[in-house]
Amino acid sequence: MVLTFLYSFPYFFYFNSTNKLAPGFTMRVNCVGSFGDPFKKLAACFPKIPNLCKNIIMKAFLGMGLLGSNFVQAMLRRGEFVHVWNRTASKAQALEKAGARAFTQVQDAVRGATEIHLTLKDDTAVDEVLMAAEPALHPGAIIIDHTTTSKEGAIKRTRVWKEKGFTFQHAPVFMGPANALDGTGFMLLSGDEKIISDLTPSLEKMTGKLLYFGAEVGKAAAMKLAGNAFLVCLTAGLKDTLTLSKALGVSLEDLLTLFGSWNPGALVTARLQRMTGADHSQPSWELNMARKDTQLFIDATQQSGDQLLLMPAIAALMDEWINKGFGGHDWTIIGK
Ligand SMILES: NC(=O)c1ccc[n+]([C@@H]2O[C@H](COP(=O)([O-])OP(=O)(O)OC[C@H]3O[C@@H](n4cnc5c(N)ncnc54)[C@H](OP(=O)(O)O)[C@@H]3O)[C@@H](O)[C@H]2O)c1
Repeated sequence: MVLTFLYSFPYFFYFNSTNKLAPGFTMRVNCVGSFGDPFKKLAACFPKIPNLCKNIIMKAFLGMGLLGSNFVQAMLRRGEFVHVWNRTASKAQALEKAGARAFTQVQDAVRGATEIHLTLKDDTAVDEVLMAAEPALHPGAIIIDHTTTSKEGAIKRTRVWKEKGFTFQHAPVFMGPANALDGTGFMLLSGDEKIISDLTPSLEKMTGKLLYFGAEVGKAAAMKLAGNAFLVCLTAGLKDTLTLSKALGVSLEDLLTLFGSWNPGALVTARLQRMTGADHSQPSWELNMARKDTQLFIDATQQSGDQLLLMPAIAALMDEWINKGFGGHDWTIIGK
C-alpha cells in the first residue's frame, strides 16, 4: 500500500490549483492519468477518494499537425498530462520531450481517456480515426472535434456517436497554430446547451473566446465554413490588388502604408448590411461608376501583360445587373 501511494503521488502535482478540494473530496483535475491503474488502487484504499476519481478528466489528443501539436503544447504548459497520437508517429513522439505520452496505436492513446480531442484533415480522417479508436473508448467518453469539416458530417457524427453512448461535440476554430499555443482566437460551438456548459471550463482554456451559435447541431461547422469562405476571397482579392498595384508601379510598402491608415476590413459588417438591405435605389456609389473603375483595373493590368483573377468575373456580374436596368442603383446590389 505504501508503494501504491508513492507511485500515485505524482497525481497530486497535476491538480488544477484553481479547483478547491470540496467537502466530500469531490475534486476536479485537468490532467490525464497515465498512472490510471495505481491511482485507482490508491482510491480503493481510502473511502472518500472514489468521489475524487469520478471527476477526473483524462485527455487524449489525436492529430499532431500544426494546430494539434500546439494545442497539446499549451495543455502541457498548463500542467495537464496528455496522451497523444498521430498517423505519422514521429510527430506525436516529438511531443514527449515536452511531457506528453505518445502512442503508436490510437486505441492505446484513447484508453481510459474521458475527453478526446481531434484536429485532423477532414471528415474522412475523423471518421477513420474514430472508427479505429472505438473498441478502446471509455464508456461515455466525450469526443471534441476541432477539425474543419462539412456541416452534414458534424451533424451525422453527433447523432451516430450519441447512439453509441458517447458525446460528440464539434468545436471548429478560427485559430492558427500561434493562437493554439497562446490560447487566443475563437472556438465555435453549437448544439446541446448542457453539454457545452459542461465542456466550457475545459474549452475556454484552449482559446481566447468561445462563440456559441445556439442549439442547432452543425451550425458551428457552417459558421466556420462561412468565415473561411471570406478569408479565401480576401486572399484572392488581395492577389488581384497586388497584381494591379504592380502594373501601376505601386509597391508593397505603399500598399501597407495605405491599408495601415485606411482599413477596408473595418467596413465588413456595414457592407454586409448594405448588400443585404431591401433598397438599393439610393446609391452611395452607382453600379455604373463601379463598373467603370473595374474596367480601369482590367485595362491597366492587361497593358502590363498581366491578368486579374477575380475582376473579369465581377465585371460580368456587374454587366448582368446593368443590363437588367440597375446601373443607377447602389453597386452593392450585385451581392443580391
Ligand atoms: N492551420 C490553421 O491555421 C488552421 C486554422 C483553423 C482550422 N484548421 C483546421 O484544422 C485541421 C488541422 O489543420 P492543421 O493546419 O493542423 O493541418 P496539418 O498540419 O496538415 O495536420 C493534419 C493532421 O491530420 C492528419 N491526417 C490527415 N489525413 C489523415 C488520415 N486519413 N488519417 C489520420 N490522420 C490524418 C495528419 O497526420 P499526418 O501528420 O500523418 O499527415 C495531421 O496530423 C484542418 O481541418 C484545418 O482545416 C487549421
